[in-house]
Amino acid sequence: MIVAPSVLSLDYSRLNEQMEEVNASQAKWLHFDVMDGHFVPNLTFGPDILKGYKKITDLYLDAHLMVTDPTFFSDVFIDAGADHITFHYEVFNNVEEIKKLAQHIHERGKTVGLSIKPKTDINVLKDFLNDFDLFLIMSVEPGFGGQAFIEESVERIKTLRTWLKEENLTTHIQVDGGINAETGKRCKEAGADVLVAGSYIFKHDIKEAVDSLV
Ligand code: DX5
Ligand code: ZN
Repeated sequence: MIVAPSVLSLDYSRLNEQMEEVNASQAKWLHFDVMDGHFVPNLTFGPDILKGYKKITDLYLDAHLMVTDPTFFSDVFIDAGADHITFHYEVFNNVEEIKKLAQHIHERGKTVGLSIKPKTDINVLKDFLNDFDLFLIMSVEPGFGGQAFIEESVERIKTLRTWLKEENLTTHIQVDGGINAETGKRCKEAGADVLVAGSYIFKHDIKEAVDSLV
C-alpha cells in the first residue's frame, strides 16, 4: 500500500519537525492539495510552496489539482517539481480534452491521474481506462481536510478495480478523504493501492498513523 500524507493538514507551526517524521516514516508519496478558490471553496498552495517541499523531502510529489484550469496549472506545478499530476474530470466533461491533457503530462515525463468527486458517476471513467496511471476516487467532497469518509466510496473502488482487471491493467486506485486505519483497510480490501490521509496522520503520531495504513 502506498501512503501519501496530505500536507493540507500539516501543523504549519511545526512544518520541519513534522516533515522529518514523515520522511522517516513508511510514506512513499507526499500529497499536495492545490485549490484555487473556484473549483472548490478553498485556497491553498502555489508552486513556490511545492518548490520548498522539494528541498526537504525525497518523497514522490503527488499534486492534486482542484482547479478550474488544470491545463495551465499542470505545467506550473511540473515546472515547480511535481512528479505526478492529478486533475478533475468535472472541469472538462469532455473526453478528448481530458485525453489531450493526460497525453501532454506524459510527454513532460510525469505520471497522470484523473479524479472524480463523490457525486460523479463512476461510469465516466470507462472512457479513460488506458489513458491514466492513476484514478483518484474522492471519498469526501473536495475542498477541506477532516471530513467524514463517504461509505459509497468502497463500492466505487471495487467496481473500478474490476474494470481495470478485465483490461489487464494495474493502474493505481487512490482514495482521498476521511482515511484512517479502519476506512483505509476497507479501501485496501476493495482494491485501492494508494491512500491519502491528512488529519489522521498529522493530528496523531505520524509514524504510527502511517504504519497503520501500509
Ligand atoms: C480534500 C483533499 C484531501 C484532504 C484529505 O479536498 O483532496 O487530500 O486533504 O484530508 P483528510 O485525510 O483529513 O480527509
Ligand atoms: Zn487531495
